[in-house]
Amino acid sequence: MKPDFAHFVTPSLLMAVGSAVLGSLQFGYNTGVINAPQRIIESFYNETWLWRFSEPISHPALTALWSLTVAIFPVGGMIGSFSVGLFVNRFGRKNSMLGANVLAVLSAALMGLSQLASSFEMLIVGRFVVGVFCGLCTGFVPMYVEEISPTTLRGALGTLHQLGVVIGILLAQILGLEWLLGSLSLWPVLLSFTVLPALLQCVLLPFCPESPRYLLINCSQESEAHEGRLLDGSIVDMQEMREESHRMQQETSVSILELLRTPAYKQPLMVAVMLQLSQQLSGINAVFYYSTGIFEKAGVSQPVYATIGTGVVNTAFTVVSLFVVERVGRRPLHLIGLMGMAVSAVFLTVAMALLEQLAWMSYVSIAAIFSFVAFFEIGPGPIPWFIVAELFSQGPRPAAVAVAGFSNWSANFLVGICFQYIEQLCGPFVFIIFTVLLLAFFIFTYFKVPETKGRTFEEISAGFKRAGAGGADKYSASEEFNTLRGDDPDL
Ligand code: GLC
Repeated sequence: MKPDFAHFVTPSLLMAVGSAVLGSLQFGYNTGVINAPQRIIESFYNETWLWRFSEPISHPALTALWSLTVAIFPVGGMIGSFSVGLFVNRFGRKNSMLGANVLAVLSAALMGLSQLASSFEMLIVGRFVVGVFCGLCTGFVPMYVEEISPTTLRGALGTLHQLGVVIGILLAQILGLEWLLGSLSLWPVLLSFTVLPALLQCVLLPFCPESPRYLLINCSQESEAHEGRLLDGSIVDMQEMREESHRMQQETSVSILELLRTPAYKQPLMVAVMLQLSQQLSGINAVFYYSTGIFEKAGVSQPVYATIGTGVVNTAFTVVSLFVVERVGRRPLHLIGLMGMAVSAVFLTVAMALLEQLAWMSYVSIAAIFSFVAFFEIGPGPIPWFIVAELFSQGPRPAAVAVAGFSNWSANFLVGICFQYIEQLCGPFVFIIFTVLLLAFFIFTYFKVPETKGRTFEEISAGFKRAGAGGADKYSASEEFNTLRGDDPDL
């Protein structure tokens, strides 16, 4: 099956996906926003402390408060992502996305008014609330986008979630420059900027359809599902949904506990979780949280601009992935990405280790970080987010998205918290740890991750069932899928 953009991509589909990925942009923005203005916000913490206790804040207290400000975001993300299942079946996909914006507005108010109220507690609570919001977005958005997309474009449209994330990061890096919003007086505006995409999404979403798959399978509303087919009859295949719906009637709805206990879900769940871990434990956020510091240590004279460079490379390669994912497939891109990152990490290590002897190594380190980020966006960036929705049918999907999202955010938290300490221990060799992990994930992907390109949700579940029936030691899921793919000339 060849993707046919002109035939499938209708303005209404683009509008629905575009409105949804404003949530992804929020995730990226709030990931990147805290990096550049660190020193300036720290001086606000110091002033507040001085005003309250009549003495300047001690260095350990400031470090602890700052670490809390950074790390409370993924803690909120863990809670938000784990709660996705509570909302999507009760309120629907679209209304869940719409309602979550209350949290974005609340967090913007808390963070934006913290300076006025001389309260760093408000800023920290605001970071937590926006973390919960972003955790919800990382579940809602890929699920909605996958459910409204035609089979042949699921990968390309799924990658738009990541494109939203990377544009959000880049926007935060640029607006965070001191001569824009990253200044002593404007940082509250920088943090509360998150209210704008929230309002825009509230205006746009009501004009978008609910997921037809949710309407038909969860609510048995066939005529509404028809209307929601992203209009001119081209998008989600009703026959495919009817078959899934029929099968779902034999499948009771799946809670997180049932998902974890049911043997049939073991294999796809392991693949989903491992792919999330491969994304975060690749070390990507060591770059996005600490790039300025890494560039400083690597002897780069304008670290802030090099950081913006990573944002630009990040965005450019997500666009590359968007155009090749339906041609090349998920598995090869993920494998190429992991291996490319491992090799880049080795170059970075060598460059950092030789910096004292050879000054030009700072250029090698910039090139190594850029290529690390580029390979990330080829596969490990976008693929884990949307593949979870592909690996599960409608029944277990919300629970699976919750568990996978929770693993992603937990690993994100771990890297964010530990990186600086491990760096102190290992010095220039810190990225070797990521190299070893990347190689381990490469081996896992090679043996265990099936190709899902061009397969209906139904066929993907069937592939796992067959792999399970064949015995784990006899066939891996990927072998089973390779057999399945034998009949498809395009694969
Ligand atoms: C992915 C990750 C996120 C990371 C971003 C970088 O979306 O989930 O943690 O910051 O990519 O582009």
